[in-house]
Amino acid sequence: MDTETNLPTTLPRIGDKAPSFKAVTTQGEIQFPEQYAGSWVILFSHPADFTPVCTSEFMTFATLMPEFDKYNCKLVGLSVDGLYSHIAWLRTIKEKIEYKGMKDVEVTFPLIEDITMEVARKYGMMQPGESSTKAVRAVFVVDPKGIVRTVLYYPLSLGRNFDEILRIVIGLQTADAFSVATPADWRPGDDVIVPTAGSCGVAKERMDSKDEMTCHDWFFCTKKLDKDTVLKAIVKK
Ligand code: BEZ
Repeated sequence: MDTETNLPTTLPRIGDKAPSFKAVTTQGEIQFPEQYAGSWVILFSHPADFTPVCTSEFMTFATLMPEFDKYNCKLVGLSVDGLYSHIAWLRTIKEKIEYKGMKDVEVTFPLIEDITMEVARKYGMMQPGESSTKAVRAVFVVDPKGIVRTVLYYPLSLGRNFDEILRIVIGLQTADAFSVATPADWRPGDDVIVPTAGSCGVAKERMDSKDEMTCHDWFFCTKKLDKDTVLKAIVKK
C-alpha cells in the first residue's frame, strides 16, 4: 500500500509473470505483455516529459533502438504525463534538440500515458520517498514468455547506462541459449561460467563434455565461448 495515497502498489520481481495492462501510447493502444509474446521487451519509466535527464535518455534509447531490435527486443516507455505532453515533447526532441552528436532523433517506440498512475503502481514505479508525483527510472526486462528477467530502479537524478541495459539483454539471451552464466562485466567473446549455478545435472554433463574448461576452484569453472558463436545464436535472422 502507498502510505501517501492509500492505493495498492506492487513490485514485480525477477521470475514473476509481468503484470498485464492495457494502455494508450504515442503509437496507439497496447496490451502488455501479451502483445509482445515471442519478443523480448523492455518496459521503462521516466519521471517527466520536458526534463533534461529524461531527454538525454530518450535520445540515447531511440538511437540504440536498432541495436535492441537486432536482439529481438522491443522498447516501451512510460511516464505519468498525458498523451499530448508526450507528443509535444517527442516532437521537440526531433525538431530542436541536438545532444552529443544525436539530432533529428525520432522516438518510434510507444510511450505510455499513465495519468492515473495505474500502470506505474502495478510496476512499483511510484516510490514516494523519492517522489510522490513522478515515476522513478524503472527498467523491466521481460522475456518472450512474458516473464520478468531483470529489474532496475534508478533515482530521478541519475541517467541510466543504456549500454548496460543492452548488455543485460545479450547476457540473458546468451545464458538461455548456452545454459551458462556470465561473469562480472561479461561481453560477448569473454569466457562464460559453466555450469549455471545450482544445476547438478548440467554440472555432470559439462564435466563429461569435451569443452575445454578452466577451473579456478571446484565451484568456479569457465570456458571459452567465441563472439561469433554467441551472435550467431542470438542475433535476429
Ligand atoms: C530530469 O529528467 O532531468 C529530471 C526529472 C525529474 C526530476 C529531476 C530531473
